[in-house]
Amino acid sequence: MQKIVVLTGAGISQESGLDTFRDANGIWAKYSMEEVCTPEGFRRNPQKLHEFYNNLRRDLPNVQPNAAHFALADLEQATRDGRIDAEMVLVTQNIDDLHKRAGSKNLYAMHGELLKIWCTACDARIEWHKDCTTETPCPKCGKTALRPDIVWFGEMPYHMNAIEKALLECDLFISIGTSGVVYPAAGFVRLAADHARTIELNLESSAGTSLFNESRLGPATKLVPEFVQSLLNSK
Ligand code: APR
Repeated sequence: MQKIVVLTGAGISQESGLDTFRDANGIWAKYSMEEVCTPEGFRRNPQKLHEFYNNLRRDLPNVQPNAAHFALADLEQATRDGRIDAEMVLVTQNIDDLHKRAGSKNLYAMHGELLKIWCTACDARIEWHKDCTTETPCPKCGKTALRPDIVWFGEMPYHMNAIEKALLECDLFISIGTSGVVYPAAGFVRLAADHARTIELNLESSAGTSLFNESRLGPATKLVPEFVQSLLNSK
């Protein structure tokens, strides 16, 4: 039984029309990371941060999963219907819902989800598709203490125990569409390297390219379906 761990970053959603963070016209070229992706930024100007995520949330229904998202969902389905003798865990740094909409289920959204809101008064985490402001009351407790359920810089990503366990047990680690500069995700290849085959599928070399057994360069919508097909053919 092969154990596969896949890590994705913003690059897998780029061909769906969502900006990445660090490419030339990326999100961090337009917004200040400190203002919209840190607890301090939220404390200083919560409404500015809410507007940033409201804009991203409004865009989401206008974009669709692409062939790379669907290929990963098909690989997971293949582990369920016996087309491949393997288990698969998908870890994404992305906050969009494209993996979910493509059909991936065994999914860890380690940086949270754009379509969830977190009440810091009653700790409720609620599916959320609308705008949110500093005046929006929590549907559970009524208090105006809502924040995006997104992991900001300096906060602990979600599901880390399960992710680390999967990395320590895997035979194959595939990293897709990530620049490899943000930890802990950038360190995942090191957790897998001494016992697993490690492959990077990326438009250009990432910061961690030299740590991988193999690095294939190109668009995710070409590389990921090809790679999944090669796994299914070699089952
Ligand atoms: N196909 C494959 N890879 C692509 C494509 C594509 N079509 N387009 C871009 N890429 C690659 C880029 O070459 C780059 O290496 O995707 C990577 C995107 O890197 P980043 O923009 O840094 O995004 P990511 O690695 O996901 O950022 C990690 O940083 O800002 C935080 O929390 C945020 O989750 C994010 C984290």
